[in-house]
Amino acid sequence: MSKQFAVIGNPIEQSRSPELHHAFAQKMGLDLNYSKRLAPLDGFLANIQEFFSQGGIGLNVTVPFKEQAFAACAVLTERAKIAKAVNTLWMVDGQLHGDNTDGQGLVDAIRALDWSLDQTDVLIIGAGGATRGVIYPLVQAGVKKIVIANRTLARAEQLVADLKTAVPQATLQAIGLDALEGQFDLVINATSASLSGDALVLPETLQFQHAYEMAYGKPSTFLDQAKARGVPTSEGYGMLVGQAIESFSIWNGIKPNLKDFL
Ligand code: ATR
Repeated sequence: MSKQFAVIGNPIEQSRSPELHHAFAQKMGLDLNYSKRLAPLDGFLANIQEFFSQGGIGLNVTVPFKEQAFAACAVLTERAKIAKAVNTLWMVDGQLHGDNTDGQGLVDAIRALDWSLDQTDVLIIGAGGATRGVIYPLVQAGVKKIVIANRTLARAEQLVADLKTAVPQATLQAIGLDALEGQFDLVINATSASLSGDALVLPETLQFQHAYEMAYGKPSTFLDQAKARGVPTSEGYGMLVGQAIESFSIWNGIKPNLKDFL
């Protein structure tokens, strides 16, 4: 039987992970089977136990179980500890290991666009789990200053307070969404505004060289405004592929080239 992998979530039908992992496996000449698992909202732990007890090798975790996965792990990577969320699980000697590959996926997607991160100033709009998960990998990739702008300022301030000691080599700042201004190399939209069809307004006092939208396949007023200014833009498909590649490389010890799958 081929090695078993899966993604677990609720809902799960929309997940692109099986097609991505099968494409990576084909490119790398590996034989594996990657399926979708719909876990009941109160049945996450039982579901992952069943998967690993049946010999499963690796699981990806998606909404709404990433925090439960984090809590369930006996061993966590540094970036998963900082993210407080886990999207990649595997077993070693009966111990559940967890990592979070979302941030590295974003870094790899930005590099695949040939946008530099080294010594840059980055503005991230949003202060939820998506933002928390990418701060440490962005700083590891060379970002020197991150400003977190959020509709609810207190949430951005809390995130900065939480993460400051984890990234001592960078400057972290919190601002309200109504106070967007300054010059940035890159602006990242990590809000769920595009997913819910809401508009984000970028004032003229805000200047930036590149714009990355974490969502993909949805209309984005954020990207519309960036395009109107003529700066290079990207939606988040590359990040999706990037996080999948990083999970694949943890499990299989071999890292496909992101540019081959965009
Ligand atoms: P995720 O885990 O995807 O980050 P989340 O924790 O629900 O999801 O966070 C969603 C983020 O999008 C928050 O920063 C939220 O702002 P608030 O903290 O003020 O709620 C932001 N967000 C959602 N809809 C928004 C909108 N219409 N305009 C601005 N920010 C929005």
